[in-house]
Amino acid sequence: GRVLEPACGEGPFLRAFREAHGTGYRFLGVEVDPRTLDLPSWAEGVQADFLLWEPGEAFDLILGNPPYGALGAGARLSPERRKAYRERFATWWGRYNLYGAFLEKGVRLLKPGGLLVYVVPAGWMVLEEFQRLRAFLAREGALEVFYLGRAFPGLKVRAAVLRFRKGGKGLRLYDAEALGQGHPPLLLLEEPAWQGEMVRFPHEEALTLEREGLPLGEVFRIHFAARSPEVKAHPLTQTRPGPGLVPVLTGRNLLPGEVDYETPHSGLYFPKEAAGLLKPFYATPHLVVGHTRHYRVVAAWDGQAYPWREEFHLLPKEGVRLDLEALVAYLNGPEIQAYYRGLYREVVPHLTRPMLERLPLPKDLVSAR
Ligand SMILES: C[S@@+](CC[C@H](N)C(=O)[O-])C[C@H]1O[C@@H](n2cnc3c(N)ncnc32)[C@H](O)[C@@H]1O
Repeated sequence: GRVLEPACGEGPFLRAFREAHGTGYRFLGVEVDPRTLDLPSWAEGVQADFLLWEPGEAFDLILGNPPYGALGAGARLSPERRKAYRERFATWWGRYNLYGAFLEKGVRLLKPGGLLVYVVPAGWMVLEEFQRLRAFLAREGALEVFYLGRAFPGLKVRAAVLRFRKGGKGLRLYDAEALGQGHPPLLLLEEPAWQGEMVRFPHEEALTLEREGLPLGEVFRIHFAARSPEVKAHPLTQTRPGPGLVPVLTGRNLLPGEVDYETPHSGLYFPKEAAGLLKPFYATPHLVVGHTRHYRVVAAWDGQAYPWREEFHLLPKEGVRLDLEALVAYLNGPEIQAYYRGLYREVVPHLTRPMLERLPLPKDLVSAR
């Protein structure tokens, strides 16, 4: 068979594979940087951008540790190159990420029945910008995910090994967090009809809460705050305090069950009475839920309707009645923290909109008139 390592450098995966499985293969590595391309004589090295490379042949096995990093606005990438990538990758979405493109490219280069094994960051399991990638993987083959958690020393990012068989079907999720302590991967979940939905960990109590509760997204309209550039560019924004002005609030002003209206963390000020001109939903008191609280849910009621620069802003839908105090206590309470950790572990440090939409509310805290 034909074995390929993309972004190979010195070819650590080719070397390890040959050590374990013998010499009866043809080995090939692709590396964009000529200074790091350094393969042994039994392997063929190609100097190329793997994402633009067209070998004219397909592979039995593709393995490696693709590079990662956002590719969208702000990335160190020439506009020409970004355009070339964007045109080639059907799974491109939002800011996307190098490893998403490496996955799509790898799958496309596989023979039918061929196998791809990558170690990648785990964010694709839940983030919206990988929705297309998940659907693509579900369409193209059978996927096994070995969740490693904190696998790259010194890096915050959580990792997973993907084993993808082109032409099969379904998803299997394994817990491999204790691999380093000598525990074999444990099969957690089998979804033969997986179509690319978020990959969540099965957690009995969490799923019971979802079955019995009302999804937050059915009760509230969920908005995201005005982004920093939007706030800064607004003609009413000031950089000094003054009459009628209040601090533009950030995540640091959001405490469990409480908003700190005083500390000017953003260094920006806005006329209190005009908050609704920044975003219409700031004009009425509403629920604020933290976006990045490192695996916690933090919520408070903004009764004073301030201007914000961060976090999710939730307005009750028409006709909904809430037991506000109990609702805020519930969202900050241990049950919801266990729900969140149970389903999403530490795959990403933020609470995304789809996660928030599904978060279950006990029916006695909410009633529709
Ligand atoms: C093994 S990968 C990634 C390791 C680690 N996950 C990271 O993100 O830093 C690093 C290698 O990928 C190579 N590389 C990066 N982009 C590439 C591309 N588009 N095509 C081929 N090789 C690439 C780099 O030159 C480097 O040798």
